[in-house]
Amino acid sequence: MSARRIVGGARPRRDAVDKVLGRTRFAADVRVPGLLHLAVARSDTAHARVRAVHTARALAVPGVVRVFTARHVPGVNRYGIIASTADQPMLAGDRVRFVGEAVALVAAETPEAAAEGARRVAVDYAPLPAITDPAEALEAGAAAIHDRGNLCFEQRIVRGDVDAGFARAAAVVERTYRTAVIEHAYLEPEAAVAWMEDGVLVVETSTQNPHYDRSDLGRLLGVAEERIRVVQRATGGGFGGKLDLSVQPYVALATWLTGRPSRLVYSREESFLATGKRHPFVMRYRSAADGSGRLLAVEADLLADTGAYASYALAVAMRAAVHAAGPYRVPAVRIRCRTVYTNRVFSGAMRGFGTPQAAFGHESQMDLLAGALGIDPLEIRRCNALGPGDVTVTGQTLGDSVGLVACLDRVGAVRDRWARRLREPDGVPRGLGVGAMYYGIGNTGVSNPSTARVALDPDGAFTLFTGAADIGQGSDNALLAICAETLGVDPDRIRLVRGDTARTANAGATSASRQTYISGGAVLRAAGRLRQRLVQEAAQALGVPAARLALEDGRIGPADGSGTSVSLAEVAARCGGGPVSETGGFDPDAAVLDRATGQGRPYGTYAFAAQVARVSVDPATAEVRVDGLAAAHDVGRAIHRPSVLGQISGGAAMGLGMALMETFGPGRDENLDTYLVPTTLDVPRVTPMIVEQAEPTGPFGAKGVGEPALIPTAPAILNALAAACGARIHNLPATLERVQKALRGEEA
Ligand code: MOS
Repeated sequence: MSARRIVGGARPRRDAVDKVLGRTRFAADVRVPGLLHLAVARSDTAHARVRAVHTARALAVPGVVRVFTARHVPGVNRYGIIASTADQPMLAGDRVRFVGEAVALVAAETPEAAAEGARRVAVDYAPLPAITDPAEALEAGAAAIHDRGNLCFEQRIVRGDVDAGFARAAAVVERTYRTAVIEHAYLEPEAAVAWMEDGVLVVETSTQNPHYDRSDLGRLLGVAEERIRVVQRATGGGFGGKLDLSVQPYVALATWLTGRPSRLVYSREESFLATGKRHPFVMRYRSAADGSGRLLAVEADLLADTGAYASYALAVAMRAAVHAAGPYRVPAVRIRCRTVYTNRVFSGAMRGFGTPQAAFGHESQMDLLAGALGIDPLEIRRCNALGPGDVTVTGQTLGDSVGLVACLDRVGAVRDRWARRLREPDGVPRGLGVGAMYYGIGNTGVSNPSTARVALDPDGAFTLFTGAADIGQGSDNALLAICAETLGVDPDRIRLVRGDTARTANAGATSASRQTYISGGAVLRAAGRLRQRLVQEAAQALGVPAARLALEDGRIGPADGSGTSVSLAEVAARCGGGPVSETGGFDPDAAVLDRATGQGRPYGTYAFAAQVARVSVDPATAEVRVDGLAAAHDVGRAIHRPSVLGQISGGAAMGLGMALMETFGPGRDENLDTYLVPTTLDVPRVTPMIVEQAEPTGPFGAKGVGEPALIPTAPAILNALAAACGARIHNLPATLERVQKALRGEEA
């Protein structure tokens, strides 16, 4: 196979066989002798002052070695990925803010002793009023959950003359939408193991961001980062939930203070109870269009429940606001998104950072406008769709990679085919619905660089060093493909060192659909520099001008195939025999948003997508079947087609869960027996379609797909349901009760 066919190809992933055969070792599988087992004692009250934590009965349990409380935390007992809002203690100090908050950590010789010790930790609480509703949290006189008040973060986007837009509208629709708390439900619960090695604390863990983990562990322990090494083990999904620290601080503290190795793996119950969730939103939308369907103004007021701690609330507020009006040309907007503290398990990052919630709002509004004006739902999207050179609601002028119309055309063709078969004379309500989205690739309005290194080893093979955590989505494979394509070698000739703070540079988080575009850009540059250097070296060896040489299939020789060539091992030897390496970096062209107006350039580029859903409803039981889902995604360029298709299908499954079944009740849902996620019986065959509108700043034109895959799905399904039932559901998920109401013609 020619090396030039790697990008865009379909070779099997390097990690696939081991995963399928169960040979991959996750953090829970790491065996270390002399291990301390850990258990966390947790708050059973939602909001209280902590008068005292009694540990004597826990320490008396045979096998218990130590019990740690907040006073044992050597550094700053406060963490959080966004430094300006970092507010979460690893062990509660004088206050608990949600049921499940960690109060004490028990280290023992056996898991049983640790668990028994945790049960025997007794806490003396002075209860405080617990707030469970974000609107209530904002009322004057509400108990302050944090010293700075209950408003965690607010983002506004203001542009154009909104009032004038509404004044001259042919149609105005105003509705309020609600979304539910959602649990990530990754297959692998949080896990970490730690030990000391030559005075360095080593933490191997399931994580989306080893370099961030290291810096916050350093702050918690009060030690320099150089004394901590974080290694990302194989990670069984993250979806945003493994961006926050979870188990890492506990193994770090126990090992740092005892010198002994330690391990902590959350049970599913503990993962449900104590780790981040998707923000539930209440969204008031008002949208105006002229007689031909052109959007004139959008007003959106979004209120999100961020629970007890900030986590990613700032990023969610910014991203939800920036995307609140959808992938359309909107001349005037007044958008506000607020994330608010309550006494509930914290909300954090989850696939899309608030954009999937906002998309339910803006896509429902688009269908309502279409209905009011008698315009086809697809047509109203097409006539407003952002295109190359258009200006977004933050005033950013888009470049050339804007494939929304192509996506709409692709799903439109499927929809029209499905529409011909829709009316079957069996009395079953059926409907088709469309959803569209755009999504900024990378962190919002900040520099978020990645650095990579590529080395030629003495044996003539290469090693790629990247800090990018592969959490199952396939960044290893994509980065190897970009590296191999650039170097003109087979990917099998490239070794990979990944996600190790001692050996790889910071690539930033595996988050925000950013690794292919940003770390891919870093790898492209590192590999390009190395290729250039090796060609120079070969030019000297061969006495041929470098411009005439090419690196192909592991040899460097004249590009036209004439004359002699030199092997990479020979080039390595000429370079002194040791590894020859080059570093490359990429940081997207993004800049901070204006605080008051939200104007600015939040992202370097955007992904676009449209999906169409076909649903049927059982008239007797109100059970909804999604009979078909087609999803067209402009990814810029597919680096590895099976991975892109897999992301689209997986994202659609997750979106189906958000649409029809997922709603997490703290205290009610302790495990996957009551918290329902889609199974293979619920998800139809998804028809994924790749649109490639190459992004000039992306590696081989690539943008991203990880989060976009999910965003249009719930809107498409809910729009299809509205078409089937004749009444609209405004609250997610579309439960049987809500669908029953809609079948009766009542809006729910
Ligand atoms: Mo994601 S919410 O960027 O892991």
